[in-house]
Amino acid sequence: MDELSPIYRNAEIYDALYEGRGRSYEADSQTLVKYIRERNASASALLDVACGTGRNLRSFADAFEHVEGVDLAEDMLRVAQKRLPGVPLHQGDMKDFRLDRRFDAITCLFSAIGYLDDAGQLNAALRCFGRHLKPGGVLVVEPWYFPDNALSGRVMGDVVTVGGQTISRLSHTVVEGRAHRMTAHYLVADAESGIRHFTDLHMLSLFSRHEYETAFAEAGVASVEFLQTGRDRPGLLIGVKS
Ligand SMILES: C[S@@+](CC[C@H](N)C(=O)[O-])C[C@H]1O[C@@H](n2cnc3c(N)ncnc32)[C@H](O)[C@@H]1O
Repeated sequence: MDELSPIYRNAEIYDALYEGRGRSYEADSQTLVKYIRERNASASALLDVACGTGRNLRSFADAFEHVEGVDLAEDMLRVAQKRLPGVPLHQGDMKDFRLDRRFDAITCLFSAIGYLDDAGQLNAALRCFGRHLKPGGVLVVEPWYFPDNALSGRVMGDVVTVGGQTISRLSHTVVEGRAHRMTAHYLVADAESGIRHFTDLHMLSLFSRHEYETAFAEAGVASVEFLQTGRDRPGLLIGVKS
């Protein structure tokens, strides 16, 4: 993805939307902590890649001694930093960021990996994650959908009110070649400013499970498991660096 979608330059709206939708960041993070500890009981340092506004990191910070985050979007990091004073957050691209330490666990959640354009970029990103993992480190990636379970012609809609602001989001998603093309329209209203509208286009690659597994293997992370995470969620890929 060369240009960030407008929603990632409107981080407060992103944050309010998923709060209003009741996305279960805290419960999900606790489940992830359990999966990580089952594979590396003494894990103490975690990096969340594409950390967005830092909601998962907020919970991870209670479970691990040291946490850090990386994201491409300055505005998402601004909101994350308010939520996580003192936590090192870095602006960077998941394909080629460089930090001066290695971690016991790396997460890349909410299908952010789908923003990579092709298998070459997927391999580059996973190699970058691998370089930042200690031996025995756990890698957790929430993929986007696989080509064989990707629905086409899907409409979703939400209207939420959070903190005096009402946000409506309507999205339409179709399969286009090896990607999902998702168009989302936002209407955002509050008493002072009235109503404004913006449109987002997200191209999300439909990598196959084999492509993910190959990328994990190239990163030195073998024996990848795929865990189902329930209806309307694409699942989780988890592996341990040898
Ligand atoms: C769907 S949001 C997920 C954010 C967060 N993980 C969450 O669960 O709320 C996708 C995030 O990926 C980030 N992103 C997109 N492409 C990226 C890239 N190449 N490198 C790093 N971050 C990227 C966006 O800025 C955005 O914050």
